[in-house]
Amino acid sequence: MRGLLILIEGLDRSGKSTQCDLLQSHLNSTTQANLYKFPDRSSATATGSLLHSYLTNPTVQLPDEAVHLLFSANRWERQQDILADLTAGKCVILDRYVYSGISFTHAKSLSAAGSSGVIASLDWCAAPDIGLPQPDLTIFLEVDEDTAARRGGYGAERYETKEIQTRVRQVFARFEKLANTDGKLQKWHTVNAAGSIEEVHQTIRGIVEEYLANETLRKSPVDKF
Ligand code: TMP
Ligand code: MG
Repeated sequence: MRGLLILIEGLDRSGKSTQCDLLQSHLNSTTQANLYKFPDRSSATATGSLLHSYLTNPTVQLPDEAVHLLFSANRWERQQDILADLTAGKCVILDRYVYSGISFTHAKSLSAAGSSGVIASLDWCAAPDIGLPQPDLTIFLEVDEDTAARRGGYGAERYETKEIQTRVRQVFARFEKLANTDGKLQKWHTVNAAGSIEEVHQTIRGIVEEYLANETLRKSPVDKF
């Protein structure tokens, strides 16, 4: 049986990376699990260092459209590795993926100072990711603005502002419906991330266990976007 492709999405301060680490340790105790974090800023990709400087250095100027394509290219650079892991029976956990890509770019078009160009089109934003492996399940860690704020201020990277986060939250809200419209299996699970680290971890484990036990799913090929 192949591995499961598990996506953990969420806003900043939702505890996403902590939960990815905990899930990986848990899965590693019974099976094997690899974690891919997007954007992948490591030397495993050619686009990672460019994206890192765009995110951390405000003087780096790139058109919104070009940045969007770079984030997608960054996922394509890891595609073969992800598929190879799954085929080898390893589970793959993704820390952000396509939905972050669409949401953050589209959110820019909603801002007053945003571009009025093609990024206003969700179809355009989704297009570069067509053909990428589709997660078997997506867990969206939802956190309200007050809880996020209580967990400490946003960092200094581009997009880590209240305005962008609020707009991203609005775009993410649309995906639950879209992701669950086709197929019998529910693919999108929204989890309230305001609970303790352990509570949220247990909820995520419960959801993942069901998919792990689904042999039909694990004997069928990975879907593509
Ligand atoms: P990180 O904080 O998870 O490393 O992500 C860095 C930022 O990049 C975060 O603000 C979300 C944003 N992002 C995009 O704009 N497009 C994408 O495709 C991805 C994966 C992340
Ligand atoms: Mg961040």
